[in-house]
Amino acid sequence: MDFKPDFLTRIATRRAALRAELAALLPAPRAIVWEIGCGHGHFLVRYAESFPHKFCVGVDLRLERLKKSDRKRDRARLANCHFVRAEAREFLNALPQGVTFAEIWVLFPDPWPKKRHHKNRLLQAEFFEALAARAGEGAPLFFRTDHTEYFHEVEFTLRHLAAWRSVPGTPWPLEQTTVFQERAPRYYSLVAVRTSHPARPVEIVAPGLPPPPTPT
Ligand SMILES: C[S@@+](CC[C@H](N)C(=O)[O-])C[C@H]1O[C@@H](n2cnc3c(N)ncnc32)[C@H](O)[C@@H]1O
Repeated sequence: MDFKPDFLTRIATRRAALRAELAALLPAPRAIVWEIGCGHGHFLVRYAESFPHKFCVGVDLRLERLKKSDRKRDRARLANCHFVRAEAREFLNALPQGVTFAEIWVLFPDPWPKKRHHKNRLLQAEFFEALAARAGEGAPLFFRTDHTEYFHEVEFTLRHLAAWRSVPGTPWPLEQTTVFQERAPRYYSLVAVRTSHPARPVEIVAPGLPPPPTPT
């Protein structure tokens, strides 16, 4: 794919800013709770409040949602809860070395219902492999959606990945209704756990973006 030079410059600048932001937020190796697509922050603020020893980071693309999340966090006076504007795959690529995932939460990710848009879905095999590279054995991944077909697709994908194992019936450590859960007539939940199987090295890039530079 051909990219225009000014587009490449903008992307490189954005990636460098994200790397700097994450280096400041996570200066030393640590295991974090990561929520992808945190929306208005209802879940993560409540979670960080309930588990003050856990360091929680939520990412989302939409600035106005992140501002609402920040306000909730500030009202609750939490020092262990942070929100970052980032695309999930770019966040992964920009994360400092030594930062790992203690837990991963994905609640009501965009389902991209049309078949020709399925390629935009976040939860695909390569993404799970990339998550596995940062998740220690036993780290849980919590997933919830109201989209039946996306749910089954994720179940199927996980069944074929040695690095993750679905564990039906695993209780959730906290229930907190999110904006999209509130609107859902019904939903499906899944917990997968990182196995001891080595992660397969993968390069992940969001659709329509150039690959990140190879580390030197
Ligand atoms: C359907 S909403 C769900 C929000 C929230 N989790 C909830 O349950 O109310 C999906 C959210 O994911 C964000 N999002 C979508 N794709 C993303 C990506 N690739 N990286 C980060 N956030 C993303 C959207 O901006 C949106 O806020």
